[in-house]
Amino acid sequence: MIAEKGEHRHFMSKEVHEQPEVLSYALQHYAGPGRDRIEGAADAVDFTGTDRLIMVACGTAFYACQVAKYWFEQIAGMVVEIDIASEFRYRNPPLRDSDMALFVSQSGETADTLAALNYCKGKAGSIVSVVNAMESSIARASDAALPIHAGVEVGVASTKAFSCQLTVLLSLAIHAGRTRGHLSAADEAQLVSRMFELPRLMNEAIATEPQIAKLAQWLAGARDILFLGRGLMYPMALEGALKLKEISYIHAEGYASGELKHGPIALIDENVPVIVFAPRDALFEKLVSNMQEVMARGGRVLLVTDAEGAEIARHGTAEVLVMPTVDPRLAPMVYAIPAQLIAYHTAVTKGTDVDQPRNLAKSVTVE
Ligand code: G6P
Repeated sequence: MIAEKGEHRHFMSKEVHEQPEVLSYALQHYAGPGRDRIEGAADAVDFTGTDRLIMVACGTAFYACQVAKYWFEQIAGMVVEIDIASEFRYRNPPLRDSDMALFVSQSGETADTLAALNYCKGKAGSIVSVVNAMESSIARASDAALPIHAGVEVGVASTKAFSCQLTVLLSLAIHAGRTRGHLSAADEAQLVSRMFELPRLMNEAIATEPQIAKLAQWLAGARDILFLGRGLMYPMALEGALKLKEISYIHAEGYASGELKHGPIALIDENVPVIVFAPRDALFEKLVSNMQEVMARGGRVLLVTDAEGAEIARHGTAEVLVMPTVDPRLAPMVYAIPAQLIAYHTAVTKGTDVDQPRNLAKSVTVE
């Protein structure tokens, strides 16, 4: 299949805009017709005999695992470990029969992820993969391979594959929660019905694009940019920083905002923009106090939050980007949009090659 850019200037832009549609398509394969229950593709995985879930991936797929760790812990009460494939494969980690090893890969061909999977063969009780390419080596080597239904992704910087990976991983966490007796049918119904609201909320997030394009004029002049978040927003800060450095070549770091005082606060001055992902959730107050520490040292903050968060915390920030209000558990899918669009517009402003950034490959099939 030959992918076309359509009216978009770059594949990355097209793929960001496709996300509400492909996420909805993916969800239809994982949820029942009543939109109140996970069933279908997820039934291929049995979590009931599993004591420990080990998730391994590279790049953006690894950050999807980092988000999913919170979901499997909170929703399914499971013990979860995550690791980068290039580290995991050489660590010789001890594995047991009661472990499930889960690999996430858009291409299904990443050399380190495949090697990590092969290490687990015959050691972990079961091997599951979450992939975009079902004909891939990783899919074929797994006991069960689950498709993310994102369609062909051309832009080197992964976007729609990320939100579809999140959708499938959350569906699996819900399936694990119910089958392990950790999630009631009522809680499942509420969560699944809210997942169906995501395409609309992601479209609302995409509607902030003109404001993001203006903010990019400021960000494109920076040498370093810091992204902060807590809880589910911590991996989103990492993903925002990764996207930005991949395509705009600006040095960016993602940090758990509670770690700010253990190092990165030393970097803060008026020349380092600080982007804070902070929906109004249980950790919001803590994040605001971290943000105030930044502002007290002359740091210029771009606060990405919802209407309620903006009302409370707008004072003193340089800029506020208002996202739709979303169930905090589902916020990663919505906040992925500003993470991607900030990187995209900053790169476009700088005039870099967005779809083919220097030194990077879409699929890394060599070590
Ligand atoms: C490369 C790509 C990234 C991707 C990573 C993992 O670095 O540029 O966008 O996240 O590989 O790829 P995979 O196909 O395993 O998800």
